[in-house]
Amino acid sequence: MINYTLPKPKDFEHNIDGKNTHLLTLTNRTGMQIALTDYGARLVSALVPDKYGNLVDVILGFDSIQGYLRAQEKYHGATAGRFCNRIANGKFTLEGQKYTLAQNNGSNSLHGGPGGFHERVWDRQVSFKKKIDFYYVSPDGEEGFPGELKTNVSYELTNENEIVIQFRATTDKTTVLNLTNHAYFNLNGEGNGDTQNHILHIPSEKFIPINAQQIPIGEEYPVRGTAFDFTTPKKIVKDLHAEEEQLRFAHGYDHTFVNIQPINTAAATAYAEQSGISLEVFTSEPGVHLYTGNFLTDDKGKSGHKYLKYGGFCLETQHYPDSPNHPDFPNVILHPGEVFESKTIYKFGVRK
Ligand code: BGC
Repeated sequence: MINYTLPKPKDFEHNIDGKNTHLLTLTNRTGMQIALTDYGARLVSALVPDKYGNLVDVILGFDSIQGYLRAQEKYHGATAGRFCNRIANGKFTLEGQKYTLAQNNGSNSLHGGPGGFHERVWDRQVSFKKKIDFYYVSPDGEEGFPGELKTNVSYELTNENEIVIQFRATTDKTTVLNLTNHAYFNLNGEGNGDTQNHILHIPSEKFIPINAQQIPIGEEYPVRGTAFDFTTPKKIVKDLHAEEEQLRFAHGYDHTFVNIQPINTAAATAYAEQSGISLEVFTSEPGVHLYTGNFLTDDKGKSGHKYLKYGGFCLETQHYPDSPNHPDFPNVILHPGEVFESKTIYKFGVRK
């Protein structure tokens, strides 16, 4: 059995681009603990009780800032933005104006580009020992995006073992945005085998199909009769290796499910039999992007644990990929004077 503890604050004290980085922690009344860092407004750890009452760290990550600097392109626990997921060829047109973004995924822009929000040191404020707010002002033109974007991400730990994440943003020029948290989960504990045996329930009837460059083809496909049918709970491995073009394009699941659940109904639920730990995801976002860690490659994570392919999965709540090039997808445009608001809850439980 792995004995899980939180990383040490001194290993997160560093200076990046002239700003100091920190590790911040929250504890609730049931003993659940989370750790965050202002480097990328990231979730570093979540120690949650398993069915035996032991605390298990269900988030993949690193013991120090150096680990995150080395594995930036994996986005561990990070706030991904300004525009999480892909924008085809890093190009879009908005109000008649053409924009070209920094490219970092072949010709695509992924998760805001190489200098995205995951790389920035955010300002921080802790409230009542239960909530941490991170703030970042992204200058006009950063990574090619229009408008100065004032962004706020808050993480609150409730006594119901929920991590409540809220995003807010305003702009001074019409722009596009899509924000998510990119935590990789292993509900048996990070570094404790892979997650193919996790049981997943996603009540979505439709998903967003992609092409070989992992860009949406502009349609919604029904999940019924395909590997994408999680409407009845099933193990991730059940159809993960099925002969389906959609799975081949992404080397596994790396697809957005159309979410029509209201915020008080889970948009996705994951469960690991060994630990008994469950995760319910609630969101105001129209999509839940399931990424099964297909591109994890042998990173040495916390305590030297190896993170191999499928070693963790993400349930990224977000708008659909490449929305700026698909006017019929849910709106990702923010105008001056509007406030973008979005809420996601990761709720942990145990089944005995
Ligand atoms: C994307 C993957 C990408 C990964 C990077 C995910 O959100 O969908 O395609 O490789 O992030 O860590």
